[in-house]
Amino acid sequence: MRQGFRGEIVSLTDDPSFYGDKAISHQKDGIIVVENGLVIARDSTEIITEKFPDLTIADYSGYLIMPGFVDSHIHYSQVDCIAAGGETLLGWLEKKVFPTEEKFSDKAYSEATADFFLKECLRSGTTSALVFATSYPQSVEALYNAALKADMRVIAGKVLMDLAPKSLADHTHGGLRESEALIQQWQGHGRLGYAVTPRFALTSSSEQLVGAGKILNEYPDILMQTHLAETEAECAAVKERFPTSRDYLEVYDNFGLLTKRSVFAHCLYLSNSGFERLAKAGAGIAFCPTSNLFLGSGLFDFAKANQHRITIGLGSDVGAGTSFSLLATMSEAYKVCRLQNYNLDPFHALYLATLAGARLLGIDRYVGSLEVGQEADFILVDPAATPLLARRTKDAPLSEKLFAIEIMGDDRAIAATYIKGKQAFRQAGTPHL
Ligand code: GUN
Ligand code: ZN
Repeated sequence: MRQGFRGEIVSLTDDPSFYGDKAISHQKDGIIVVENGLVIARDSTEIITEKFPDLTIADYSGYLIMPGFVDSHIHYSQVDCIAAGGETLLGWLEKKVFPTEEKFSDKAYSEATADFFLKECLRSGTTSALVFATSYPQSVEALYNAALKADMRVIAGKVLMDLAPKSLADHTHGGLRESEALIQQWQGHGRLGYAVTPRFALTSSSEQLVGAGKILNEYPDILMQTHLAETEAECAAVKERFPTSRDYLEVYDNFGLLTKRSVFAHCLYLSNSGFERLAKAGAGIAFCPTSNLFLGSGLFDFAKANQHRITIGLGSDVGAGTSFSLLATMSEAYKVCRLQNYNLDPFHALYLATLAGARLLGIDRYVGSLEVGQEADFILVDPAATPLLARRTKDAPLSEKLFAIEIMGDDRAIAATYIKGKQAFRQAGTPHL
């Protein structure tokens, strides 16, 4: 069936910090036409209604239509330890995270959590994500089954961690074999993808990291996700374990894990040379501001990473991150940049949460800009979601309206979420058209 959706449409076709207004695609009163889950036309209402005179149109005038958000770094296994405070990274992992992840040895718990997790993503406007499961392979399967049912673009991986506390630790080679079995069964199935997932350098033996590099090299369509240089204590521990490596990034590089399919979360303590080598390899970064603030990890130097033209996406990093909402995440990203005297423009922030994330995950052929030919994963955003937002955005030009939504908005501003043109979530109060 062919259907039109009318509203104020905004998306990015490139990085606006380099391409300026040319990178902004905007129809103040526009329609996207969806057929078989794809965007087949997008233009002003005037042009679309002339071209498609019999089109059925869901009229959401007053709402913004945007691409669904792409969460570049999140742990589905940590929804039950979100907002567990009082610790910095290493203590938090040991005291809060590992006991929570142990629960995923239970299949029913994994399935129920996967289901909850994806619903929470949809409520927050997130339609694609790069996800950490746990070291239990069946926790990945539970997520894949749920994502397949929801028809969402989910790239996930079994966590490799043979040096972790006993109950969570996998076997050095067994964990690698389990990863390969998951790749063979799930990679490219529906909208699913696999990322080989060594938790971080401290929780895998050198032998397991060598194996992870081999798998990444053997399967050209998969990604690699891990954590890098998140806290000073972590960097010091890495230095102690790998004294001959020039820095933390070189540790991953030596194991074949620094590639253009690599996504590194955090990168707070990278030197200039680190950013340079990361850029040269074509690897990317997941910027996770709510997590970095919650754990007190530090401030990501976004401006510097961006100057190196590194692909940077936004990560909620739940459960160290404090919200599923990439709007809430944009708000904290703005403040983290502000503290370092960089002005994160509202269109740039939207780019990070959509097309940049899609580029980072290698799915920008399919999603991220809501252009003709892309899959129709999109959200309706209500600029009047709260009385204060309504007052602040009334008659405001787009950049101001967008900025207010990014700074003050969260899941309440997501009026509806569509997966391949089908409504997957609708906020109470949003008209059902
Ligand atoms: N470093 C290693 N594991 C983790 C994790 O689960 N969360 C965060 N934020 N950092 C990590
Ligand atoms: Zn993380």
